[in-house]
Amino acid sequence: MIGKRMQDAMNEQIKHELESAYLYLAMVAHFRAESLDGMAQWMTLQSQEEVAHAMRFFNHIDERDGQVELKALSQPQKEWASPLEAFQAAYEHERFITEKINDLVKLASEEGDHAAGIMLQWFITEQVEEEDSTKKVVDLLERIGDSGHGLIMADRELGTRSAAPAESEE
Ligand code: FEO
Repeated sequence: MIGKRMQDAMNEQIKHELESAYLYLAMVAHFRAESLDGMAQWMTLQSQEEVAHAMRFFNHIDERDGQVELKALSQPQKEWASPLEAFQAAYEHERFITEKINDLVKLASEEGDHAAGIMLQWFITEQVEEEDSTKKVVDLLERIGDSGHGLIMADRELGTRSAAPAESEE
């Protein structure tokens, strides 16, 4: 059975992951309105991954006879001044999520909760990948600068992203 402190912290993490999905979905709407369909596609997959992340915590609490509690989500920002600004916000958000995962790992250690510790290992690796993938887009957009042609090429490239195997299996 899951302990109360870990249950509460994981319920909070479900909220963080769903707020991530919500933020990226807001970016989908923004990019679609800007006719940047490739970036919208990239963020659609990102948003779907976040729902899958939330479900990992949801299932973990449930499987250990805990109580899942869904909290109210904050309304995400609606517009960004540029694609670069949106991806910078996504990168900052992923760094925030990494901090939250690290806090959970610390809590698992304090509580001697080995089941949570093992489950969280997947997220440690995932967050390295999440930060890297968003930072790479930030770097790309920084290089492009004000080039309209560059932006069209980047949008086309980002639209080729496919779902991660681990997520598409869920
Ligand atoms: Fe679920 Fe992008 O962190």
